[in-house]
Amino acid sequence: MVNENIIANEQHWEKKNIEEGYTLWFTGLSGSGKSAVAERVAIRLEEEYGESVERLDGDIVRQHLTADLGFTKEDRDKNIERVSFVAKLLSRNGVAVLASFISPYIQRREKTRDMVTNFIEVFVKCPVKVCEERDVKGLYEKARNGEIKNFTGISDPYQEPEDPEIVLETHKETIEESVQKVIDYLLTNEYIKEP
Ligand code: ADX
Repeated sequence: MVNENIIANEQHWEKKNIEEGYTLWFTGLSGSGKSAVAERVAIRLEEEYGESVERLDGDIVRQHLTADLGFTKEDRDKNIERVSFVAKLLSRNGVAVLASFISPYIQRREKTRDMVTNFIEVFVKCPVKVCEERDVKGLYEKARNGEIKNFTGISDPYQEPEDPEIVLETHKETIEESVQKVIDYLLTNEYIKEP
């Protein structure tokens, strides 16, 4: 009985007639620039376009919501499953969600696409060689000398998106150019309007 009520309630919230938000899902290797671009897009959406914005970022979420998880395939999938649920709740309530996670597995990202309102996949495409040269957090070096196991791009897979809505080539374009590409996509597809 209780369960039925909860399910009916959930259906009510799903059908609520409010303006929908969207989820920009930044996927790519560690050091590819996901967070840097997402952060700047978030600021512009809020300041210039008056959007309600929320950021979900791997490094931060993993200190809270998914602090119990590591980097096996199973744990990564759980990590993405939990944050996708949060993205779903926010984006159906008019929030612009900017999620930045390596999210290396196609199948898991496609499940997220199916569950989240207006899912926009942003492939932050940057060769592993360049990410490794940048090595902002010193993790590639640790991965190379075996201090960190299962490191994406070195000792763990990254499955590139097959048909992403947006591709950013952060080794060829400036951060501002990448940010503008995302804003232009949102304008062209009428997620936002010129202020
Ligand atoms: S995901 O694979 O589950 O999507 P997520 O984006 O949350 O990963 O976290 C990635 C961040 O965790 C990296 O930016 C890096 O700082 C850190 N990290 C620690 N260990 C690893 C590892 N083995 N592989 C990738 N990133 C790691």
